[in-house]
Parts: sequence; structure tokens; C-alpha cells
Amino acid sequence: MVETIRKSTRSEREQWVMDARYNLFNLKSEQVFIDLLTDSGTGAMSDHQWSEMMLGDESYAGASSYYKMKDAIEELLGFPYYLPTHQGRAAENVLFSALMKAGDVVPGNTHFDTTKGHIEFRKAKAVDCTIDEAFDTQLIHPFKGNLDLNKLEKVLKAHPKENIPCIIVTVTCNSSGGQPVSMQNLKEVKALAEHYDIPVVFDSARFAENAYFIKNREEAYKDHSIKEIVKEMFTYADAMTMSAKKDGIVNMGGFIAMRSEQWFRDASVYNIMFEGFVTYGGMSGRDMNALAVGLRESTTYEYLDSRIRQVAYLGEKLTEYGIPVQKPYGGHAIFVDAKRFLPNLPKEQYVAQKLAVELYLEAGVRGVEIGTLLADRDPDTRKNRYPDLELLRLAIPRRVYTNNHMDVVAAALKNVHDRRDKITRGLKITREAPIMRHFTVELENA
Ligand code: F0G
Repeated sequence: MVETIRKSTRSEREQWVMDARYNLFNLKSEQVFIDLLTDSGTGAMSDHQWSEMMLGDESYAGASSYYKMKDAIEELLGFPYYLPTHQGRAAENVLFSALMKAGDVVPGNTHFDTTKGHIEFRKAKAVDCTIDEAFDTQLIHPFKGNLDLNKLEKVLKAHPKENIPCIIVTVTCNSSGGQPVSMQNLKEVKALAEHYDIPVVFDSARFAENAYFIKNREEAYKDHSIKEIVKEMFTYADAMTMSAKKDGIVNMGGFIAMRSEQWFRDASVYNIMFEGFVTYGGMSGRDMNALAVGLRESTTYEYLDSRIRQVAYLGEKLTEYGIPVQKPYGGHAIFVDAKRFLPNLPKEQYVAQKLAVELYLEAGVRGVEIGTLLADRDPDTRKNRYPDLELLRLAIPRRVYTNNHMDVVAAALKNVHDRRDKITRGLKITREAPIMRHFTVELENA
């Protein structure tokens, strides 16, 4: 689809962002010029996907669309069982309902906020075992999404097996900057997990982008096709949750896939309760058709190469302008290091959110805070958790913008950078939800 975008004036944006209580989620889309809030559900579908939409089978049970998706999942990802869900967090809700209980511990590589939310909602605990290198934005490491095996083993040793329902590996790791996990690391995590008899679940929203990085950065895989790499990646997982709004290149959808028939049966109960019957689970037939095609398209080298090069194009421009960003550049987004960008603002004033507001005021470009607001409060102490990284994420929708748009974004951020010394006040919270607050938080100038 091609969509109209609208320009606005600075004084209009000043009013709008104030009305939005300095939370960019509250803006109307027509108040945004270039929308880099998320790469989730914002991609453009292909001619083949749109054609498949016409062939959707909307039968309540046993639709052919369900089987089209089943074939794609079996062929590309290698899982015999799957359940459709309406999006990624729904997959988490269903699977975690079957797996987790209060007091459990779930190690992983910087769990995404909905994943952490669903773990903490069940009074379980997410433990971050990402390698330390991920938390220095200027340090170059090819796989900053990797898990630190020592950190992981410490967690596995410290708790009885009954309290560790699974290890969650997020590919690519969104929260550390769209950073990939190496095949070597996936293999080692699985071996360690097997030693302790703990299942491994991949949070797979951007699995194809992860495979692209394995091909380009891991010598042993340079001659493998993306589809071969993807297939091998998933041999190191017992199950996966998927937000199909990313590497499924659809506007809405998700699924859980697994090897265990027992898990399938257990999760089916919750799928029927929360999502829908097991052969549609919150998705319409036409959407399952489009997703089956999307999975095939996103696992082609040509598509991934143009996409990830566009992200790097923006990263290079910003680096040229002296703007500090997470390096190497991630798969779906460029993450601006807000603490380095605005070193004079105290961490209590939501530095990355302030930067997001400034970029919006500058040119109507909407990014998203991946920092203190997103990190939520500690569930026990209710104090702010200040993450190591305070980032402004500029997520690039798939197959939507051109590099001309990237030039505008880079120039806008350069203008903010040039006047950064004049930004002396951050933000403070006036209202917040107890969990996943960043979606609805309200703020004012500090
Ligand atoms: N896992 C990861 C790694 C994600 O990035 C997301 C969503 C989800 C799970 C949840 O999926 O949105 O379909 O329910 N990430 C979006 C983002 C929202 O902007 O990064 P969902």
C-alpha cells in the first residue's frame, strides 16, 4: 500500500505534543510526518500477499488458510504443532499461561516489555543474561544479542528445575538494539539448557533479520541460504512465540509453534479461552494466507539485504553527523544513545523520552523511548528501574519509506543535536499505569 503523509508546522506540533501529554503514542497518525514509532504491523504487503487475501477461507474450523500457514511453519521453521494468535503478546499470554506460575524464574536476553510484562503479571521473574558488551553502544561486537553463558548457568544452578519453566531467547534482541544472536550462541544455550533439562523458547519476531546477520557475520554460514539458516536456528528451540507483525510482514497476527504435543494440548485450552478456536486463534483466514506468504518473502536474501541496508543507511548518516547510536546498526531500527546525546539531563527526567519529543517538534518524526519509561518500576520496591541503556529507537517499517525519508530523519536529528546544549529540562510523570506504563504514561516539562 502507498499512503499519504502530511507535513505540519512547528507551532502545530507544539500544541499537539502538549495535548498528547508528551507521550507520542497519544498523537494522531496524521499529526506525524515520518512514523518510526515501530516496525510492528506497519510494513507494506506485497502483490502476492494481497492476492492471497482474496483466497481466505473464513470457516470457523479447519479452514484451508490454517493449513496454508501450517505448511509454511513446518517447511520454514520445522515445527509440527502451531496455534494462531492475534499478535505476539497473545502468543506469550497463551503459552505462559500453560508454562509459568508464581515464583518462577525465566532467564533470557533482555526480554521485550510485553514478554517481561506477561512474566511479571504471573508473579514470576525475568532475569537478563545478555552479554555485557551489549550495554556499551560504542563497542563493536557482531552479536550483541548473545546470552552470557556464565550468567545463564548461574541462574540455572541457583533454582530448582521446577521453577525454571523455560529460557527465552529473543531473536533479534529488540531491547538491546535489534542485535542478533549468533548460531554458535543458540547452539550453546540449547546445550546448556539440555544439561539442566530446561526447554528453550525463541521470541521470534525478527528471526529472519537474525538469520541475515548470521549469514553476513558468522564465517561458517556465509554460503548458506537464509532459509537454511532459519531452519537450523529453530532446531535449537523447543517452541517459539511469534509477533507476525514484524518478520511475517502482515499488519496483524501471531502464533506459537512447538515440538511437544503435550505443550500443544495444554496451550490449546488457553488459546480457545483467550484467542479463538485452535484453527484461527484470533486471525481471519485471509490474514493467515497473507502471513504464510509473508514468511516466505521475509526469508529471502534480496528482501533482507535491501531492508537491513536501509536501516544501516540511516545509521551511517547519523554517525556522519556525530550522533551517538548503538553499533553495529541493528536489524529493524537505529537506536540513538540518549544519555550521550543529552549528557546534561539527569536520569530522573526521562532523557530518551525528552529526545523523542524534541525530534517530533523538530520535524514531525516519531520515534519511541526504549529507556526508563519502558523499563517500568521494580515490582517489589516500586522504584524506577534505570536501565543501562537509555535509547531513542527509530524503527523502520518494512517496504514503506525510501532513503529520501531517511535523509529527512537524519537532518532533523542533526538539527536537534546542533542545539542540544539548549535542552536543559527533561520531563516528569503526572500519571502512569502500574505495568507497561510507557504506552499510556502522561508527562509534563520538569
Ligand atoms: N517480542 C518482541 C521481541 C517484540 O518486539 C514484540 C513487539 C513482541 C514480542 C510483542 O508482539 O506487538 O505483536 O504483541 N514489539 C513491538 C515493537 C510492539 O514496537 O517493538 P506484539
